[in-house]
Amino acid sequence: MTRCPYEELSLAFGDAAVPYLYGSGCTPALADAIVDRLAAGPGGVDAVLLVADAGVRGPAAVVAAELGRNVRVATVPLQPEERHKTLPTVQHLLETAVAEGLTRRSAIVAMGGGTVGNIAGLAAALLFRGTRLVHLPTTPVAAFDATVSLKQGVNLSAGKNLAGTYFVPALIACDLAWLATVPRHDLLTGLAEMVKNVLVAAPELEKKLVVALDGVPADLRALLEVGVEAKAPFVAADPRERGGALIFEYGHTAGHAIEFVSGGAIRHGEAVAWGMLIAAEVARRRHGLSAEDVAMHHRLIAHLDLPDAAGRLRGLDRGAIRAALAADNKRGYGPCAPGEVLMVLLDGIGRPLPGPAGGPPLVPVPVSVVMDALEAL
Ligand SMILES: NC(=O)c1ccc[n+]([C@@H]2O[C@H](COP(=O)([O-])OP(=O)(O)OC[C@H]3O[C@@H](n4cnc5c(N)ncnc54)[C@H](O)[C@@H]3O)[C@@H](O)[C@H]2O)c1
Repeated sequence: MTRCPYEELSLAFGDAAVPYLYGSGCTPALADAIVDRLAAGPGGVDAVLLVADAGVRGPAAVVAAELGRNVRVATVPLQPEERHKTLPTVQHLLETAVAEGLTRRSAIVAMGGGTVGNIAGLAAALLFRGTRLVHLPTTPVAAFDATVSLKQGVNLSAGKNLAGTYFVPALIACDLAWLATVPRHDLLTGLAEMVKNVLVAAPELEKKLVVALDGVPADLRALLEVGVEAKAPFVAADPRERGGALIFEYGHTAGHAIEFVSGGAIRHGEAVAWGMLIAAEVARRRHGLSAEDVAMHHRLIAHLDLPDAAGRLRGLDRGAIRAALAADNKRGYGPCAPGEVLMVLLDGIGRPLPGPAGGPPLVPVPVSVVMDALEAL
């Protein structure tokens, strides 16, 4: 018997189960599996629209050719910039899908980073009120984090991810060889989210994460497993990420403010790393997080090989950070007085504090306390 060239996980989102196929150097086998599984659905499959991230032109051409041996393929290239993550881009995909003759027996295949996944995911949810969606993630954020989520959304002029829906994909498939060309700063973004997963939900995966981080870029497979293992039980129980799964916002309150005020100069992963250190300091001061647990934050983040925090944060406008904190997108999830912001905080590694009155795990914290913790870095 020949060995299966890819492995398979099953991701649960409430009652729905989504297969996640992954391996390295297995694109032809994945393409065959995608067509086989779509063909096994009611009515089979008559065509796919491959929405291809401009950052992975070569691998996307290979996927198109491999899929094309068994099904009709139309390819739409997409420039994955935040300013294109909009409803007009979704409409462009929908118009293209109809012009290419897609039917209710067709599927949308989204190949690329989280931006392409979100845009094509929303288009799949809207086309004929729901068309089968296949995710082919090509960045760590997409492979280890965004696809372990049903959230599909685009930006409005007022902010990120303000219009969207939840949509269950038919299948996720990842050839880890696609990730080999990801630039280092984008790789770090994905890795910071894995550190977050261990700190907030899965301390037992610390050793596996450290071994995987030190093996980068070799051990993407272990990182994928850390990402999925840590997050999967939470999205299984809370598929809309409005309750217990909100713990994966750890580090994102201060992190988003830092990222926004730096104008993107401090990228998402680095900003989340500083945001986790700020959250740890807030929890130490107000909720008794131990010095050893704070030290574990610093120890894990040191594996990301980031520059010195104080130097990176020194030039950022403090008034603008306060304003960005006040506009945090978790507002409304729980009680929060003027001058406070909602944060995920830990009272131990893997132990998020419960929110007030049995609400989501978000704790109101005065903005002045967050700013003091930032200055302490
Ligand atoms: N729950 C969710 O749905 C969820 C979770 C996390 C992030 N997101 C969203 O994902 C987006 C960020 O995703 P991202 O970090 O993957 O970035 P991205 O999709 O913006 O891609 C970043 C850059 O990498 C390029 N790229 C993609 N694959 C590549 C490869 N293999 N080699 C070289 N370059 C490649 C892209 O062309 C792009 O220029 C944000 O819009 C964020 O809101 C969504």
